[in-house]
Amino acid sequence: MKRLVVASTNAGKIREVSLALSDLPDWNVESLPELPDIEESGTTFLENARLKATHYSQLIPELVLADDSGLSVHALDGRPGVHSARYASTTEERNRRLLEELAGPGRGADRSATFNCALAVAAKGALLWTVETTLSGSIAGDPAGEFGFGYDPIFFVPDHGKTLAQMTFAEKNQVSARGRALRELRSFLISA
Ligand code: IMP
Repeated sequence: MKRLVVASTNAGKIREVSLALSDLPDWNVESLPELPDIEESGTTFLENARLKATHYSQLIPELVLADDSGLSVHALDGRPGVHSARYASTTEERNRRLLEELAGPGRGADRSATFNCALAVAAKGALLWTVETTLSGSIAGDPAGEFGFGYDPIFFVPDHGKTLAQMTFAEKNQVSARGRALRELRSFLISA
């Protein structure tokens, strides 16, 4: 069995990766053992995914997958962007802060946003593969939905008429930026 270690402590992310790759017969998806982490100092999602994948793959023998994701809101000049994980201290506070910022004085009606996902695979410190995907949508007026994690309750997907948190795992996997990126990863792993 080949082993792919997901360099993340985010349970929602690990679950989505594991489920999306669960029917690959040759691959076992595992979570990262406790290791010294690395500062996510990149200015793009792709740079951070690359940094994490190469860093962790120097510390363990397995193939390492890193995912760097986040939300960019047009009316907020792309914020929170690569700072998505640090925009406030809890998920609820991060979502509330974004809704408050968009409701602030002088804000127009533009609530458009993108959800971005970058994946990188590395082994022994060398980068082997990357992909970057984007889902366009808008910021909902209020959080809605019980599924998913993170910004899902406030990320509205117009084509589906609901937020990512109102979608089942299978639906979110079908439309989300990570879902698309993981389908590309499947092709890479099948040929690896
Ligand atoms: P990171 O990529 O682990 O640094 O996560 C960045 C931020 O985006 C965190 O606040 C995550 O909770 C959030 N996030 C990552 N993936 C998703 C997703 O698929 N849906 C909603 N929020 C996400």
